[in-house]
Amino acid sequence: MKMTELAPNIFACGEKDKDRKMFDQLIPLPEGTTYNSYFVKGSEKSALIDTVYPPKVDLLLDKIEEANIEKIDYIISNHAEQDHSGAIPALLERFPDAMVVTNERVKDNVVSMLHVPEDKFIIVKDGDSISLGDKTLEFILAPFVHWPDTMFTYLVEDKYLFTCDLFGAHYTTGDVWADYSDALLNSAKRYYAEIMMPFRSFAAKYCKKIREIDPNVILPSHGPVYDKPEYILDAYDDWTSDRVKNKVIMPYVSMYDSTKIMAEYLTEKLEEKGVEVVLWDLIEGDTGELLIDAVDAATMVIGVSMVLSGPHPSAVYASYLLNALKPKLKYYSIIGSYGWGGNLTKVIENMFTIIKPEKLEYVIIKGRPKGDDFAKLDALANEIAQKHEAFA
Ligand code: FEO
Repeated sequence: MKMTELAPNIFACGEKDKDRKMFDQLIPLPEGTTYNSYFVKGSEKSALIDTVYPPKVDLLLDKIEEANIEKIDYIISNHAEQDHSGAIPALLERFPDAMVVTNERVKDNVVSMLHVPEDKFIIVKDGDSISLGDKTLEFILAPFVHWPDTMFTYLVEDKYLFTCDLFGAHYTTGDVWADYSDALLNSAKRYYAEIMMPFRSFAAKYCKKIREIDPNVILPSHGPVYDKPEYILDAYDDWTSDRVKNKVIMPYVSMYDSTKIMAEYLTEKLEEKGVEVVLWDLIEGDTGELLIDAVDAATMVIGVSMVLSGPHPSAVYASYLLNALKPKLKYYSIIGSYGWGGNLTKVIENMFTIIKPEKLEYVIIKGRPKGDDFAKLDALANEIAQKHEAFA
C-alpha cells in the first residue's frame, strides 16, 4: 500500500487492521480497525501526525521508504495510547534527528510506556504552534477525548483538523475518505458508545469548539476522513445531547427459558404501547450492538437467571460495562427467575455506582412464569410506557 495524497503535501499513511478482533481486550471489532497516520510536508520541515499500533510498524516504515521520505523533523503525538504512539521508538530509530512534539501529559505516558528518552521531546501547550515553512501546525489541548493527555493538531493554512480518537470509527470498508453510508454512521455510533460515551460532556464541548474553528476537513486517527465535517459533528451533537428516545434496551440471559419468556412477553407488551424495544441475548449477541442502542435509550430492563445464590455473571458484566460507559439511561428495572433461593438484584444494583437511573418495579419470580407473574410484567410495561410519554 502507498501513501494516499489527500491534498498537496498532505498524505494519509496509516494502516488497516482487519484481523484485529478486540480493542483494549474489551470491545469487539467486527471489521477490525484502522490506525491513521498523516504526513505533512512543508516548504522547510515535515511532520508525521500520530503513528500506528506496534505490530504495524514495519508497514508504516515501508510506506515511508516507498514515498522516498528522507527526513521527518517532527513526530506529532496527539495521544499516548499505543495504537497511535506505538511506532514512535521505531521511527526515532529510522529518523534519529526527529523530535516528538506533544504536550506534557503525553510525554509522561510515552516515556513510561515506550521508554522514549526525555530529551527527544518538544513540549507544547494549548495554542502553541510550530512552522513547517509554508504550513503551520497549531495544537489544541483536548483532555478526555480519549485520555487526559489527548490533543488535536490543526493545519492552519489548509484548515485540516487532526482529532485523534475523537470522531473515530472502527471502519475498514473502502477508501480513506468517508463514504457517508449508513454502515459508516453505524460504525461511528458504535465507536462513540464504546470510546467516547463516558466523556460525553467533553465531546460535546469540543464539538462546539470545532464548529468555531470551522475546519474544512476532520481527520481522526481511526476510520475515514471527513471532508464534510458537519456530517460527523451533527451526529455527535445528537449522541452527546441530553435527549433520549422512547426506547428500552433489554439485555437478558436465561438458563432454562423462564427469564427469556418474561423478557419476550414484556417486549411484546411494550411494543403494543408504542415503545421500541431492543431485546438482547447476552450470550449470543455482540455487546457492541447493544451499546449502540444504549446511546439514546431511555430505559434498561435487565433479564437475569439465578446461578447458585446470585445473578448470572453475564448480566453482572453487562451492568458493570454499561455503568462504566455512562449511557443517558433515565430508568431501569430487573426481571428474572430463580429456582431455589438467592438474591437476583443486589449485585446488579450495586453495579450502578456512576450512572443513577431511577429504579422501576422489579419482577422476580420463582420458576416458569404464570398468571400473576404476567400481570406484574403488564404493570411494569404500563409504568415504563407512562414514564416514556415524555420521550414519545
Ligand atoms: Fe485510539 Fe485512545 O486510542
